This record gives sequence, structure tokens and C-alpha cells, in this order.
Amino acid sequence: MEIAEPKPAWWKEMSVYQIWPRSFADGNNDGVGDLQGVLGKLDYIKALGVDAIWFSPLYPSPNADYGYDIADYRNISPDYGDLALFQEVLDAAHARGIKVFMDLVVNHTSDQHPWFQAAKESTDSPYHDYYIWRGGRGAAPARPQGKRPPNNWLSVFEGKAWEYVSQVKEYYLHVFAKGQPDLNMANPKVREEVKEIMRFWLDMGVDGFREDVITYIAKREGLPNGFPLPIATGFEHYTNLPKVKDYLREFQQDVLSGYGAFTVGEAPMMTPKVAKEYITEAAGNLLNMMFHFQHMEADCLMTDWIGLPFRLKKLKRVWTSWQKEMYGVGWNALYLENHDHPRIINRYGSLKYRVESGKMLAAAYLLQSGTPFVYQGQEIGMTNITQPSLSAFKDVVTFNNAKLAKKLGLSDARFLKIANRRSRENARTPMQWSAEPNAGFSEAEPWFAVNPNYAEINVAAAQADPNSLLHWYRALLQFRREHPVVVYGRYEEHYKSSRSLYCYTSEYRGQRLLVVCSFKEEPVRFQAPAGFELVNAALVFCNYAKPVEAGCSFITRPYECRVYLM
Ligand code: NOJ
Repeated sequence: MEIAEPKPAWWKEMSVYQIWPRSFADGNNDGVGDLQGVLGKLDYIKALGVDAIWFSPLYPSPNADYGYDIADYRNISPDYGDLALFQEVLDAAHARGIKVFMDLVVNHTSDQHPWFQAAKESTDSPYHDYYIWRGGRGAAPARPQGKRPPNNWLSVFEGKAWEYVSQVKEYYLHVFAKGQPDLNMANPKVREEVKEIMRFWLDMGVDGFREDVITYIAKREGLPNGFPLPIATGFEHYTNLPKVKDYLREFQQDVLSGYGAFTVGEAPMMTPKVAKEYITEAAGNLLNMMFHFQHMEADCLMTDWIGLPFRLKKLKRVWTSWQKEMYGVGWNALYLENHDHPRIINRYGSLKYRVESGKMLAAAYLLQSGTPFVYQGQEIGMTNITQPSLSAFKDVVTFNNAKLAKKLGLSDARFLKIANRRSRENARTPMQWSAEPNAGFSEAEPWFAVNPNYAEINVAAAQADPNSLLHWYRALLQFRREHPVVVYGRYEEHYKSSRSLYCYTSEYRGQRLLVVCSFKEEPVRFQAPAGFELVNAALVFCNYAKPVEAGCSFITRPYECRVYLM
């Protein structure tokens, strides 16, 4: 069967930089990153060669989950600035040809949101039905809250998924933290609110949304108990239910399509097969693309902590299946880092070969067909931090896992080790701008520990070093912009069974690209696949001094990466 080429689109050709505002740049020197800080760094972002910024939540929030618990959808947190300053950043970004995407968090609000404050006052409140409430199970009002929670679901972040409110004698559902009550999307009024929020930001000039856990916004009728093995999380009753698509279609038709707005949906436990029900033309392009988790040693936010060993073959299988399945019908969102995972060099690369392995990882994912996302600090090879004690951590997920660890009998020292390797807080240390105090992030004591390696790993140093990761990222992004074979090429994997090499080719309208990545320190023999004459190709990228080509094979240096164009 003839496979159609992908249809060109601006959002396929762009690349995106993610800002986690609290730790990006502190403009008013209070220790917390802010929009004034962002304003001062727009030229840096432009010089990286990206076309858009995705802001993790900027809204007012009590920070039970650092902004992913929103108390006001139409405002900017005073920590970060105000609406006027946001407009300034937006205009300044646009003036540089950079689009801006907001984080849209509508699976849940903060428990401090006025809707929830009203909802928990009385079952008669017009806002009560904005959330998901149920009475307890069983009889015997022996416990203060009378009965057992309505079902056996566990929250992703904090114990049971239900919290009792004595005022209304009901439990509310929170799939995430207690401070993040789930919205009742089945209520048409809630969907109208969501559309109004979208219009508010789009009218201001925002170009689209990253939609937080968007595949969780519908819950199974009747809220049945979760399957009891191994732990009844209940996720099968709130993940990817058919109604999600109805809601997305409604948002698309009523609002987004009218603005030509971009959307990327965060989608834990997503597979290519199910993704096609959302992001293909046949499915009505309910989203432009999705962030799946399959290549992150994890299927959702929690499984990062299980600590499965890194397996290159699994990573390759996932990458290849998404490349193959999406080609010509859907579109890939490509990422290796964001605010929810530890740093990638620690996970898939090598600290000993930080720059070499960082470059290899960048080429491995950036040159695939799809829209690449780069997370703040990734472009200079920031790494995990080693926190000295548990009191240094600040995230609800770490706190929750500390409790679980205690229950399991793990010592604090043991848990500290795990948290230092696994916690998403590793990605949230302040951006390392220079070797100045506090890494040049702020003149005040930063809200969160700065990685002591900032003296060596920082933007200023990277700018001054032509062989830095930063320059490598810039060059790759520029190469991608100039070569449609990167964006639209048809992917083929080679040496699938290798546990050391990741190798793929990409073809588009007569141009061919060959990407060879070694995930090993030890030397590995690479033999070019049939039909690829290395001597007749241009070696466009190599993370070591470029070799003189001889024949069609070579022995790799640690984490070597080569990219050939034919
Ligand atoms: C996904 C976000 O990326 C994560 O940071 C957040 O904690 C959860 N959604 C809950 O909103």
C-alpha cells in the first residue's frame, strides 16, 4: 500500500521550548522565577532556534502541585507578574516570531478556586455539580465521616482518591492531590467554562494549549471500583474513556478551530493505536499531537519511581512504533525531558560522558519525524541534583512516596537515595545561567536548591564554548529547519536487535538521512546498512572531531553519534 507523505503544517515544522516558570529566571530577585525574568531571556530562546514557548502554569495557585492546581484561570500568579506583564511577554515573543502556548489544566482545579469554595458549602450551590461528589459506602456512621469512601480508587498523588467534606456530608473525587478536586466535565456548564477560559487566552493572542492529563477528563458512569490487582488505582475508569473524545470535539468545534489554535495533549498510558483515535484526520484531529509516556521508562507519572533499569531495546521499540504508526496519518510530539521526569543524561546517558551522551541523545530524538520539545536546561545538559536530606524536597509526589516508603519499612537513607535518582524535582532546580552566585538565576536565595555543578554547567560557559551542548542543540534545530527530510522523512530503523546502537534512516523526496547513536561507552562496530555509502555521504553531525571516512564501517567512541546526509 502507498503510504501518503505527511501534509505540511506550521505546527509540524516548529520546535518548542518549555518553561517551568518558577525555576527559569528571576527578574525581581525574590528567589522565584517570573515573567520579568522570561522577558530578559527571550533573545536567548530565540537564539536557540525554537519557534514557540510552552509555559507550565502561570496562574494564581496555592502550589499544592506547583501551579497545576489553579485558583483563577483568568489571571497570572503574583509570583510571576500580572496580566499586563504577560501581555508584554506575549507581544515580545510574537515580535521575535515565537508563538506562546499556555498550559490548560482542566481535569481539576485547586481546592482554593472559588468554584470549589462554593461547591463545598452546600449541595444546593450552583457550583456543587462542577465537581464529582458521592456519599460514602456502607452503613454504620461509626467513623466521623460516617462511611467508607465511595469506591476503592487511589489518587495518583496522595492516598485515596476521595476526601470527605462534613459540611455537605459527601466525598469529592481527586485523582491527583487532595488540593486538586476533579472537575465534572459531564456537566455542560463546566464545558462552557472551559471554552470561556480558552477564548480568554486566545483573544489575548495566545497561540494554543498544552492540555494537562487531558485523557483523564471523563470518568466511567457509576464510578465503579477499580480492578483490584496489583493495587486498585481505578485508572481504567478515568483514562481514555470515549467521552474524552466527545469533549475534545466540542472544544475543537466551538472554540479552537475558529482560532487555528495548536493543541498538544498530555496522555499517560497512551499507545499509538489509541492515539490514532485522537490525532488523525480520520478521527477529526481532536488534538494536533500527544505526549505519551512510553519512552520514559514509565507509562504514567507514578511509574518513574519504580526504577526499571534502562533498556535500549525497549526505548527503540517504542520510538519505532510511534514513527511507523504515525507516518502520514498522525503526528509525533518528541521529548526527552520535562518538569515531570529526572534529567535525561542521568537516565539514558552518562555523567562521565555528559556532553557526548547529551549530544547523542539530542540527535537521537530531535531528528525523528515530529515536533520536538526542549525543556529548560536540557540544552545545556543540566543533570540531577543530589539533595543532602529529605527536608530539601518540595513536591507532593516525593512526600507521598516518602510515606509509602515508610510503610514498606524503607529507611530514610534508602529513600533519600531513591528520591535523588527518581524524583521529578531533579528537573525543577533553578536554571543555571552563569557561574555567578545562585547560578545567575536570582540575586536572592532561590526558592529551591541550585545544583552545585552550576560553576561548570551554565549558559554563559556553554555560549563561550563552540563544542558545547548548547551549540549542538542550536545546530540541530537549525538543520531541522533547513531540511524537510528531518521533519517529514519516512523513518526506518536498522539494527533493531542491537543493545548498543540506535540507528535509523529517514527519506523524503530524494534526500536521505542516516542517524547512528551509540548508547555505550565501550566500542561498537557499526556497518552502514546496504545502500548507504558513508564515503559518498556528507557527515553533517558528529559529537567527536570529525573522522576521515574510510569504507562503510567504523568503531564507535563512547556515546558517539554521527548523522549523514545523502
Ligand atoms: C501533569 C503535569 O505535567 C504534572 O506536573 C501535574 O502534577 C499533573 N499533571 C497533575 O496536574
